[in-house]
Amino acid sequence: MTVHSVDAVPGGRVAPDSHVAGQPLIAIVGDGQLARMMQPAAAELGQSLRVLAADTAGSAAQIIPDVVIGDYTEITDLYRVAAGATAVTFDHEHVPPEHLRALQSDGVNVEPGPDALVYAQDKLAQRKKLREMGLPVPPFMAMTSPDDARECWRIMGGEVCIKACRGGYDGHGVWFPDSEGECVDLVATLLDNGTPAMAEKKVHLIRELSAMIARRPSGETALWPIAESVQHDGICWLTIAPAPDLDPALNSEAQRIATRIATELGVTGVMAVELFETIDTDGDPALIVNELAMRPHNTGHWTQDGCVTSQFEQHLRAVADMPLGSTAMTSSCTVMANVLGGHTNPDTTWSQRMVEVWTRYPEAKIHFYGKDYRPGRKIGHVNVSTPYEADRAGHVECADDVRKKAHAASHFLAHGCWPEANQE
Ligand SMILES: Nc1ncnc2c1ncn2[C@@H]1O[C@H](COP(=O)(O)OP(=O)(O)OP(=O)(O)O)[C@@H](O)[C@H]1O
Ligand SMILES: [Mg+2]
Repeated sequence: MTVHSVDAVPGGRVAPDSHVAGQPLIAIVGDGQLARMMQPAAAELGQSLRVLAADTAGSAAQIIPDVVIGDYTEITDLYRVAAGATAVTFDHEHVPPEHLRALQSDGVNVEPGPDALVYAQDKLAQRKKLREMGLPVPPFMAMTSPDDARECWRIMGGEVCIKACRGGYDGHGVWFPDSEGECVDLVATLLDNGTPAMAEKKVHLIRELSAMIARRPSGETALWPIAESVQHDGICWLTIAPAPDLDPALNSEAQRIATRIATELGVTGVMAVELFETIDTDGDPALIVNELAMRPHNTGHWTQDGCVTSQFEQHLRAVADMPLGSTAMTSSCTVMANVLGGHTNPDTTWSQRMVEVWTRYPEAKIHFYGKDYRPGRKIGHVNVSTPYEADRAGHVECADDVRKKAHAASHFLAHGCWPEANQE
């Protein structure tokens, strides 16, 4: 993103006067779009944010006045961003837990703390913990040698998913080998590169669901309605809320799972529990936990325009241990569609594309991350909700219509053209 250099301004980048006296100062480690989208909520709450960013051009650093330039793997930089903060929180999960323990022992309030965060950082630790809690997870094994890969291929009947235990995102770090040889080679390569890996059974998915919850340090929790998330090539593409036609028993089960995880792991702030809907051996619908994310999450972006309290506002309230807001929906259906960079960058500007989208769909709520185009990159998202009038008149616009609008708007923003009718 081309941003005007603020370093050229006398006094540099840190604007401590932007902090409102007596109000929480929340330090965020990470400068991506999740931190960026906390800023409008913070402004409205009168909270102040400080962000630890790699450089001033980062998505969050562009719009948060108080920026500490540094590296989240360096403890000294973490101390700099934490100085005087009410709470330190995250827009990603990659901060070394030993650094967070050191901060805590110096009295820094880290939310969520490292004892909870480890289960979002390490997929193998998460699987072990959830199995111990009696929650549904796929059969899994640690991969310590290529022989383990051979064994898991045999035990799982060739239905294998290999995962890097740490550091994966958007499908990077998840593989579905097609043969035993491919599985063994993959595990050997990962281990040779020093990447801890695990295997789990490939689940036959009906669809993916997301249970979003917030929890305060003092224990209060609040759940949003369970949403359906649609992935393409491992990247979240659409979220439909509430999840259409969800079996009421599965809905309650998803809520119970999220509440147990948040409470028993001592999670604070917002957490996403990614779930698989599948069919069990008796032919009944069932849930399996996929991943945990202890921060606002892509599958919660719809709450910005579909709920009384967005996930970003709720996260800031939760980490400051303030009462949580209502998670009630403000219309009967909201769909979020990610704007993912296409193969080529359209000739038109982002603004010109927005004009086209708003001309056709004035109800489209566009969220832009201040990121340059790159193929496959998340550069923004669009939320579309069922209009109030349609809800009120009782002719409930079905999720499918809202989904088509959100998809068409995001497609236009990414590609500069409307999708073919058969792609809608
Ligand atoms: N065991 C499995 N069986 C079938 N599909 C799976 C399995 N594990 C993962 N997937 C598919 O791969 C996608 C990405 O996996 P996962 O969520 O574990 O990885 P990630 O890249 O860390 O994701 P995120 O971007 O959400 O952090 C899932 O959303 C799902 O579509
Ligand atoms: Mg995931």
